Amino acid sequence: MKTAIIYASKHHGNTYQLVKAISERHPITEIHAEIQSQADLSDYDLIGFASGIDFGRFYPSVEAFLRNNLPANKQVFFLYTCAKPRKGFTTAIEEEAKKRNAILLGEYGCRGYNTYGPWKLVGGMNRNHPTKAELDGAVRFYESLLK
Ligand SMILES: Cc1cc2nc3c(=O)[nH]c(=O)nc-3n(C[C@H](O)[C@H](O)[C@H](O)COP(=O)(O)O)c2cc1C
Repeated sequence: MKTAIIYASKHHGNTYQLVKAISERHPITEIHAEIQSQADLSDYDLIGFASGIDFGRFYPSVEAFLRNNLPANKQVFFLYTCAKPRKGFTTAIEEEAKKRNAILLGEYGCRGYNTYGPWKLVGGMNRNHPTKAELDGAVRFYESLLK
């Protein structure tokens, strides 16, 4: 099973912590979408897209990477960190994936440290997130996809 995870983690590196927790335990190719905009994903069996949530959706670099590089019929999954998890953060990127007939395996999201806007004045929200338990949750989610 060959896996790539394409990520952007611009705010505090929160989402990258999820990617790193997985890559420390499993062989995956990490692709930093803010630095690299193109890659040949045809050899990969599983393709993850990971991002902080930016006004309700994934970062533009991650969505653009999918649009420009995802081959047809691939198995894909999504990871994110956000202020407050809820359904719908993956809707826009899933729509793009569906245009490539992707097989959607699911999503894992958790809280991440957030200092956007007024939160900065009070030291931010979700300090210390993602927690160890949340990182372990991301690894368990990934491992469930391998079964
Ligand atoms: C400009 C901006 C917009 C954000 N919009 C949302 C949002 O719509 N919903 C949410 O739950 N969190 C939102 N957040 C919080 C981030 O998604 C959260 O801090 C996340 O963990 C950042 O991930 P990163 O450090 O990997 O970039 C926003 C943060 C910023 C800076």
